Amino acid sequence: MIDVRDVVVEYGKKAAAVRAVDGLSLRVAPGESLALIGPSGCGKSSLLFAMAGLIRPTAGTISVNGESLTRPRREIALILQNAGLLPWKTVWQNANLSLLLGREYPRVTAQAVLDELGLGEVKRRYPSELSEGMKRRVGVARALSTSPSVMLMDEPLASLDTLTKERIQDLFLRLWVRHAFALVLVTHDIEEAAFLGQRVAVLSDRPAQIKEIVENPAMGELNYRDTAAFADTVQRLRAGLER
Ligand SMILES: Nc1ncnc2c1ncn2[C@@H]1O[C@H](COP(=O)(O)OP(=O)(O)OP(=O)(O)O)[C@@H](O)[C@H]1O
Ligand SMILES: [Mg+2]
Repeated sequence: MIDVRDVVVEYGKKAAAVRAVDGLSLRVAPGESLALIGPSGCGKSSLLFAMAGLIRPTAGTISVNGESLTRPRREIALILQNAGLLPWKTVWQNANLSLLLGREYPRVTAQAVLDELGLGEVKRRYPSELSEGMKRRVGVARALSTSPSVMLMDEPLASLDTLTKERIQDLFLRLWVRHAFALVLVTHDIEEAAFLGQRVAVLSDRPAQIKEIVENPAMGELNYRDTAAFADTVQRLRAGLER
């Protein structure tokens, strides 16, 4: 369970302070998925970085499985927009960065993860030798390599073409079902939120607050995009963003 309570994130001090997140609360149970959608610059990344233990909230608390979050933790993985690959390291090394940094986990898992993501054949290549979609998948392999119970994604598919995007969204859905992590997905993309979020929180302009939570219980199948329930969720999200 990830429990965010009355979290405020501010940058800078006193009169110069910029408030990015404004007393926001949310909960995500084990194995649940929550998508966060909101205007550009509203504070989405700030909230996610706080949930990853990378920044300390100015006020409020965040706990994971009952323990207060004070630093990054192995069971919480974060995927960034550009995948954060190191250009001088191979696919294998990038995917296994936490191993290289001295954290331990079984190597066999790492190979299995690369195979699962269709990267087994390219593990000796460098990022410059990969397509954009492959790079994003290496970022996913890295995040999966520590078997996280919480997966945070910050616009992981931004600026990909629609087909590649949908193929990787399908992959995210399969991984979420198979690995049963709690998923928190920040996205600009209404259809992505509707495809992957059991609930979708619509955020306000900065500083981020939750304007509305749209329930989306029918998601979870690969053909969901073709259903009336999906179209309905998309419409409700669009209306929520415009309100
Ligand atoms: N390290 C920082 N120092 C000062 N201000 C910051 C810092 N990081 C973010 N901000 C400010 O906080 C606000 C929210 O930024 P944040 O990156 O969380 O928004 P976002 O919703 O993720 O934006 P985007 O849609 O562009 O990804 C913005 O006004 C931004 O300029
Ligand atoms: Mg952001």
